[in-house]
Amino acid sequence: MTTMHDDVSVLIVDDEPNVLNSLLRLLRRDTFSVSSAASGQEALEKLAGLKNVALILSDQRMPGMNGSEFLHKSQAVSPDSIRMLLTGFSDIQDTVKAMNEGGATRYIAKPWQDDELLQTIHDGVARYRLQQENYHQQEVIKTQNEELQSWNSNLKERVLVQTTQIRKQLEELQQMSLRQEEKYYGVIAALAALIDLRDTRSRLHAANTAALSVSIATSMRLPKKDVETIRTAALLHDIGKNAMSDVALAIDEDDLVEEDRRHFYEHPVLGQTAIDTIEELRPAGILIRHHHERFDGSGFPDGLAGDAIPPGAAIIALADRCDREMNFHRGVNAVDMALEELSAQIGSSFPPELFPYLSQAAHDLYDSRCKNSSDAFTELNIDPSKLLVGMILTRDLFSASGLFLLGNGTELNYDNICSLQRIFALDPLRGGIHVGIATADHRPIHKKKEQTL
Ligand SMILES: [Fe+2]
Ligand SMILES: [Fe+2]
Repeated sequence: MTTMHDDVSVLIVDDEPNVLNSLLRLLRRDTFSVSSAASGQEALEKLAGLKNVALILSDQRMPGMNGSEFLHKSQAVSPDSIRMLLTGFSDIQDTVKAMNEGGATRYIAKPWQDDELLQTIHDGVARYRLQQENYHQQEVIKTQNEELQSWNSNLKERVLVQTTQIRKQLEELQQMSLRQEEKYYGVIAALAALIDLRDTRSRLHAANTAALSVSIATSMRLPKKDVETIRTAALLHDIGKNAMSDVALAIDEDDLVEEDRRHFYEHPVLGQTAIDTIEELRPAGILIRHHHERFDGSGFPDGLAGDAIPPGAAIIALADRCDREMNFHRGVNAVDMALEELSAQIGSSFPPELFPYLSQAAHDLYDSRCKNSSDAFTELNIDPSKLLVGMILTRDLFSASGLFLLGNGTELNYDNICSLQRIFALDPLRGGIHVGIATADHRPIHKKKEQTL
């Protein structure tokens, strides 16, 4: 017989049904389950199917297996249970045996006092619960200790693994952002190349302007973000020139006819408009718009002056003019000649404080090009009437109206000198013809490009 209660149970064993019934009645209101058996054997079988038996209360005098024998055997099946013996006064010897061998912690004399028996059973169940709680806590502490030990012994290894993982992820992220950056500048460079491919006077104008601008901005210690915006704007600064014709692109800005001149004046705004749909490029768009402003306010499109010109735009304007000026100079002294020309525009085209940063940037960019063997000569700009056999053209030669005549590198002979002089008599050329004359050494010599032989 079993009564339904909480998580622990009590087993009572007695061969007398009356005793069992009165014990069950006594315990029926308790919070634990109560099971009963009429013999030691039955109790052992029942015990095997029960869990959390907090207390076993057994009569001593039973046929077959007596109480002390049963309690002894019950230890193997339910070792943690509290064991108690119900016995008469005459069973003292058996009682001692039950307590010594059967693990009984208490004996209750028959006849019992209900209150006293109830209290004894409650105390026993409470002790069992306490003991279980104690076991549980010990188990938790043991598990935590094991985890802690394992954690400690593996800590170094784990830290190493995690550090390696984090470093790997960081490297992947850096690679990814590097690839993104490369892609970004790849697209920008491809856009820039669209105009450079059509500009026969300077195939690398966008790249050169960007290199000079970045070098100047870095020397000025501008924030990295501003330097990158300047780089992008410098690469794209002339993209608005795509609206101009090939002929207009091939001749100097000062020689443009009215229609082409109008397109030329529009190119900064057209450039800004072209990239305005790309939000990330808008800061660069502002610099593109203002790359033809002049320090004295005589530039375009907005006629900004002085500090009103964005610093990045002023840097690009200086770099742009420098690279254009380099078109007019060849040979080992080219950079110094170009810088001398530009210095005349300090205070009118460029802010005075910007110019000092240009010299190093220009030498860094152009010196190796100018000092290679094929350029190991001094370039001069001469009148067509002064041409001599053996002189070498240092750039493509166009008539005043934009007709291509001879290519860069052509060595002049008697026939083509006569032809050129005939053409320029009919279609006078402004600014002379650029030719190279070999120098004894490669030291820069300072001469104005207007100097003639
Ligand atoms: Fe421009
Ligand atoms: Fe330009």
